[in-house]
Amino acid sequence: MPMLTTTHTNIRCWKMSPADKYLEKKIAERVSAGNLRTLTGERLQTDFFSNDYLGFATNGVVAQQMKLYPGYGHETGATGSRLLSGNFAEAELLEQAAAAFHDAEAALLFNSGYNANIGLIAAVAGREATIIYDALSHASILDGVRLSHAGTKFKFRHNDLEDLEQLLKKSATGAPLYVVIESVYSMDGDFAPLKDIILLTERYGASLIVDEAHATGVFGNHGEGLVHALGLQKQVFARVHTFGKAMGCHGAVVAGSRRLVQYLINFARSFIYTTALSGHSVCAARAAYDCMKAPDFSNQQLHDLIGYFRSRVATSQQMWLDSQSSIQAIIIPDNRQCRELSGLLAESGIQARAILSPTVPHGKERIRICLHQFNTTVQVGMLFDVLG
Ligand SMILES: Cc1ncc(COP(=O)(O)O)c(C=O)c1O
Repeated sequence: MPMLTTTHTNIRCWKMSPADKYLEKKIAERVSAGNLRTLTGERLQTDFFSNDYLGFATNGVVAQQMKLYPGYGHETGATGSRLLSGNFAEAELLEQAAAAFHDAEAALLFNSGYNANIGLIAAVAGREATIIYDALSHASILDGVRLSHAGTKFKFRHNDLEDLEQLLKKSATGAPLYVVIESVYSMDGDFAPLKDIILLTERYGASLIVDEAHATGVFGNHGEGLVHALGLQKQVFARVHTFGKAMGCHGAVVAGSRRLVQYLINFARSFIYTTALSGHSVCAARAAYDCMKAPDFSNQQLHDLIGYFRSRVATSQQMWLDSQSSIQAIIIPDNRQCRELSGLLAESGIQARAILSPTVPHGKERIRICLHQFNTTVQVGMLFDVLG
């Protein structure tokens, strides 16, 4: 808090503390780099920016299904952490449902994907461990790596198998060795070469952690994730499935072995030292799993739209990244131009987010387009018209 002082002229003014000066300087740096973040609340006609890939957050199907769980749906707070007063049958049933759905031995709930990544990575990697992670990993993975006490931490070039193998070779000492990747990368929308990475992790005795945030709901016949869609679930040490994106609610699970879950209950600090998800949130996630499990569930419309989008990219002169997922990106290598283009789209009722450096590397600034089950080819056409 700035201090209120009285000057010799008796005019009261705010004196900046060293902390305030530091904040002011960092904000000014952002302003001059053109990447000051601000909160905006408006919702426009065409959503090409949310993570609500299946429309579950807004179309009412999950809300309708939640009515099946009246006992818990009205409980707004869990009253404590899972290890104290915050555990209840419905949370355990959700974990069982998630484990069965993703075909894992067990699953453990976390309050968000961010909490799951930092809790998991920091807990499993002790001093003797080595962590090797993809250079384009999400901030929650990077923070998990930072928080961990792992004696050695290596970043490998994005999706570069040779670089990964070099690092694995020099790290395979018999001590715990982890490779951390995303199945679908959040900023580029590309896939990890999962099969090849698994061959390497098996060759060098490493345990693979896969963040499935942008694959959950989108890949697999029922949205089980990309690892499951490729039949690789038995070869992965841990998968992180988040509820805040295609599942349209809030929270996450780590899916893995019973031993891993027992370990995390004992050692994952972001699981232990926080109030658990409320009954309401747990019911929403259970309902979302019910909706994905339903025999009539389909994400085909989304995949058809991705196919249509890529056919438009193929005839465009612009710099689109290569992606077959619901995340698409056009490179506009300048923060200000990127912002201007996002503003231009907004004037046409299209919401698409400018992703600026330092969130992405300088020169890789972009407009990120998130495709949804509910978007139409007409909306895609409008987008390309404005971009053109
Ligand atoms: C790849 C990835 N992992 C984890 C997260 C964090 O998930 P949550 O929003 O549930 O905290 C995100 C969200 O932005 C993400 O993109």
